[in-house]
Amino acid sequence: MAEQQNGDAPVLVLRDLVKHYQVPGGTVRSVDGVDLVIGRGEIVGLVGESGSGKSTIGKMAVALISPSSGSVELDGVDLAALPKRRVRAMRKRFNIVFQDPGSSINPRTTVGDAISEPLRIHRIVPRRRIDERVAELLEQVGLRPDTAARYPHELSGGQRQRVSLARALAAGPELLVADEPTSALDVSVQASVLNLVADLQQNLGFACLFISHDLSAIEYLADRIAVMYLGRIVEVADRRDLFERPMHPYTDVLLQAAPVADPVEQRGRERVVLRGEIPSPMNPPSGCSFHPRCPLATEVCRTTEPALRTVQRADGRTAQVACHLVGDDGVRAALPAESVPVG
Ligand SMILES: Nc1ncnc2c1ncn2[C@@H]1O[C@H](COP(=O)(O)OP(=O)(O)OP(=O)(O)O)[C@@H](O)[C@H]1O
Ligand SMILES: [Mg+2]
Repeated sequence: MAEQQNGDAPVLVLRDLVKHYQVPGGTVRSVDGVDLVIGRGEIVGLVGESGSGKSTIGKMAVALISPSSGSVELDGVDLAALPKRRVRAMRKRFNIVFQDPGSSINPRTTVGDAISEPLRIHRIVPRRRIDERVAELLEQVGLRPDTAARYPHELSGGQRQRVSLARALAAGPELLVADEPTSALDVSVQASVLNLVADLQQNLGFACLFISHDLSAIEYLADRIAVMYLGRIVEVADRRDLFERPMHPYTDVLLQAAPVADPVEQRGRERVVLRGEIPSPMNPPSGCSFHPRCPLATEVCRTTEPALRTVQRADGRTAQVACHLVGDDGVRAALPAESVPVG
């Protein structure tokens, strides 16, 4: 009864994915029509301000919550069309790691039990080989095999996050969703956990949806990057293209807010001044939801919602953008005069 495993087919396809919550006073449009494809072994970074819907997408991608409409296809199988029992059986094929490792490991079980649980549930290895496999997994995430006997509270935050990774990868998933896996960690250990994710991905070849506020982490890890704003994806591009030639004005803003290592580069950047705060997803603006904050907005931006469409750049590479001001060649109309270079 094994699901079809098609070599070239994408691992994850999100189609017109919507998640709305009914709350007193209205509807929260957490995710509002998202299309995204993740290829086999590909790392896609998902960035956007707090509240833009990143975690909601991550949770739908691994069937922790179900969409209001639209579909999540894993290896070509629509999760919504499967009975619960089959979704559980598919769980070994995808997994999620959260910001707070405390939420994915039970404090009352040993590290060894936490890691071996998926091995037992999905019968990944014979019973007598479980301890051996746990030791291997611990080693893979840079922990000593004797960590198996310890309890989560005896570990540092970085070590706990390594345990979450070992547990998430125990069943050999094809897709790992990593939701801000380093942001609760001390800055000094963030880099080592990021390196670990990169190494594990290289060695094991899983696809990854890597969710983060941290653009430098995204730049380090991701092959492709999707930018979210108020429940929608506004730009998707290859990593270098996105950092070197962002198309959507919001992407510009995000890049400018991020610290830059090279002060010369900082001075050379054009500056888009961001007005106001992120609007409430209960009452999104008309037209392009970014228009009230966009220094380039025109009449059409106020009235008409831009679709996410594919553009082809001069070098032949394609990308996707939802902005009226970006041409089919991926080039945006010039910035107005009040946008001055920094410095
Ligand atoms: N269970 C829920 N009920 C009502 N609203 C919710 C629920 N879960 C999320 N939301 C709302 O949906 C929106 C998106 O939330 P989400 O957690 O996906 O954002 P995020 O991009 O992950 O933010 P952050 O960067 O802060 O983690 C927010 O406005 C949030 O308040
Ligand atoms: Mg989140």
